[in-house]
Amino acid sequence: MTERLRVQVDPDKCQGHARCKALAPELFELDEYGNAHEAGDGMVPPGLEDKAWLARSNCPEIAIDVIEE
Ligand code: F3S
Repeated sequence: MTERLRVQVDPDKCQGHARCKALAPELFELDEYGNAHEAGDGMVPPGLEDKAWLARSNCPEIAIDVIEE
């Protein structure tokens, strides 16, 4: 089975910088406070792996984890 990625936002670290949403709108949703949550169950659809890593490396709070499942 092909390895899949899953994104996970740490709600204690997220400060609402929204770079994740700007870089990977398919993978993140912002709540009413502007804080990010993973879209759906966080699984990264095939082809969006680069965006997952990009979002992770661009979060100033290091709030995003990319987990290889
Ligand atoms: Fe939060 Fe980082 Fe995105 S602070 S809104 S997870 S860029």
